Amino acid sequence: MATTVPTTPTDAPLTADATVHVGSDAAREWWRDAVIYQVYPRSFADGDGDGIGDIPGITARLDHLRTLGIDAVWLSPFYRSPQKDAGYDVADYRDVDPLFGTLADFDEMLAGAHERGMRVIVDLVPNHTSDQHAWFQQALAAAPGSPERARYIFRDGRGPAGDEPPNNWQSIFGGAAWTRLEASSTADGDAFDEPNPQWYLHLFDSSQPDLDWNHPEVRAEFEDVLRFWLDKGVDGFRVDVAHGMVKADGLPDWHGHVSMVEGSSGDDEQPTDPGAPEDGSTGAGNQGPMFDQDGVHEIYRAWHRVLAEYEGDRCLVAEAWVEPLSRLARYVRPDEMHQAFNFSFLTTAWDAAALRRVVAASYRANDEVGAPTTWVLSNHDVVRHATRLGLPTAGVRPNGVFATDPQPDEELGLRRARAASLLMLGMPGSAYLYQGEELGLPEHTTLPNEVRQDPGHFRTDGAEAGRDGCRVPLPWEAAAAGYGFGPTGDTWLPQPESYRRYAADTQYGVAGSTFEMYRAALAVRRAEGLGHGGLTWLDPWVDSPDVVAFTNRGVVVVANLRSAPVPLPDGEVLLASGELAGTTLPADTTVWLRA
Ligand code: GLC
Ligand code: MG
Repeated sequence: MATTVPTTPTDAPLTADATVHVGSDAAREWWRDAVIYQVYPRSFADGDGDGIGDIPGITARLDHLRTLGIDAVWLSPFYRSPQKDAGYDVADYRDVDPLFGTLADFDEMLAGAHERGMRVIVDLVPNHTSDQHAWFQQALAAAPGSPERARYIFRDGRGPAGDEPPNNWQSIFGGAAWTRLEASSTADGDAFDEPNPQWYLHLFDSSQPDLDWNHPEVRAEFEDVLRFWLDKGVDGFRVDVAHGMVKADGLPDWHGHVSMVEGSSGDDEQPTDPGAPEDGSTGAGNQGPMFDQDGVHEIYRAWHRVLAEYEGDRCLVAEAWVEPLSRLARYVRPDEMHQAFNFSFLTTAWDAAALRRVVAASYRANDEVGAPTTWVLSNHDVVRHATRLGLPTAGVRPNGVFATDPQPDEELGLRRARAASLLMLGMPGSAYLYQGEELGLPEHTTLPNEVRQDPGHFRTDGAEAGRDGCRVPLPWEAAAAGYGFGPTGDTWLPQPESYRRYAADTQYGVAGSTFEMYRAALAVRRAEGLGHGGLTWLDPWVDSPDVVAFTNRGVVVVANLRSAPVPLPDGEVLLASGELAGTTLPADTTVWLRA
C-alpha cells in the first residue's frame, strides 16, 4: 500500500544527532544480531504427561521455533534440583533433573536444534547452589572454619549469643538474607553438634546458599562446568545474577531497598517527565554492597578465555540488574561477556520520550565498548508485557498480579504488546523473546493463591503475588485438554480460560495473528539486515511526545503511543501491528514501511 500524506515531511534533512547508532556490514559473530527465544522448560511442552514440561517436549516442538524464525534458544535451568526456585537451585550442574529427562534427551534436543539451524544457550547459576548440593551438605557436616564451609559465606552471628544475623541484608525474595544452622543436625546422616551455630548468606531463598567467589575451588569448579556443556556443543550461557557473585569486603550493612522487581513498590508510577535521566535509568538496577562489585569482572575475563578455546562463536549473556547502562556496559567489554540483558528497556513505561531516551542511552553505552545492544520485553521473572502494558495504572511494575487486584485491560495490553514487539524487532542489536509472547499470551492474573509456588510469594508472607502468572504452561491446541500442553491434559499450574483463544494452532497461517506477525517481522528483519543496521530518529517526530519513529536500512518504523491517529509517512507498508485506518496510524500501533 503506497500512501502520500503531505503533512508529514519524511524527506526533511536529518540532524546529525538524530543518528543514535551506525550500522555495519562487516563480518560479525552470530549473536550480535540474533533473535533469541527463552524456553522455560517446565512450562513449554510436556512430553511424558506428568503436567511438567520437559526436554522431550521441547524437542517435539522445535519446528514451532523453526517456523517462527528465531536464531537461538535459551533454556532456563533443567539441572538436578529440588525445585525450590523452579530449578534456579541447582544440586548437580552436570546432570539433567529426572523431571525434565536425561542427558541423552538433552543431546537429542541439541542436535535437533542444530539441524534446524538454531543455536542453544543454557542457563548457568553460579551465585548460589541448592542446599542439596554436595558441597553444602559437606559444609553442614563440617565445623566452623573448615575448608568445607569456606566455599560458602558462613559467619558467626552478632550479639552476645550470636543469635542476630551477621548483617542486615534482606533476601530479594523477602525476609532476612541469613539463616542460622540448627544447634544439632544430621547432615549426611552424621549427627553433628554446633553449640553456637553459624549463619549462612542467601541473597535468594534459604535453600539457595551463596557461594564464596573468592575461593579458588569455586572458580575452578565453574570453569569445569562451562567446559562440560561446551564439550557437549552448547553455543553459550545465560549467567544468572551475574552482578551478585562478589560481595563488598566485610559485608557491610545496607539500608537500601531490595526486591525482585527492583525500583517498584507496586503502585508508584514511573517518571515520564522530560527531566528523567538521560542515562536511561528506570530504577531497574539493584543497589548495595552485594551487587555490581568491581571484582566480578575478573571472573568474566576468565570465562571469556575458556569460551575462546572453543570453535565457533560461543557467548555469555549477563543477567545483571545494573544501572546506569554505562555501568552495565562494563560487563560486555571486549574481554568479558558478549551480551547483557537490557532491563532498563524492559522497565521503561509506554511513553515515547522515555523510550527514545533509553534506546539512545543503550546504543551510547554499548557502542562505547563495541558490544551489541540487546532488547527484551518479557521473561520468567516479570509480568508478561501483554498484561503489563494493559494494567489500570500506567507504568507500574508489580511482582505478579492477584485475582483480587484491579485487572488489566486484555485487549489494550495485547494491542500495545504487539506494537512494542514490532518496535523492538525493528531495532539493530539482539532481541530476546519469552515463550508465549509470539502468541500474544497474557499473564495469568487470577491464579488462586493456593497454587502459587514462587518462593517470593511465601517469603513476603503473601504480600507479593510472585512470578507464577508468567510461568503458566503454554497453550498449543485450542481443542485439547490442557490446551495441548502435554498428552494427559495435566498442567502444573492451571491455565486461564482465555488461553484457548491464544493456542498456537489457532494462529498458524492466520493472517493478522500474533504468531504470523512475529514470523513476518523476523523474516523482514533477516532479509533487510535490520539486526546489524543503524538507527536514525525520523522527522518530524524526533521530539514527539506521542510517536517513536526511526529508519533502519531504508525501513521506516513508526510507533504511535497515544490516542489520536497520526498520518502515515510515504512508503510501502511491510508490516503493521494492527489495522491501519486508511492513511493514518491508529493509537498503540506500529508500522514498518519501505521508504
Ligand atoms: C534470577 C532468575 C530468577 C531466580 C533468581 C535466583 O534472577 O532469573 O528466576 O529466581 O535469579 O536464581
Ligand atoms: Mg513432563
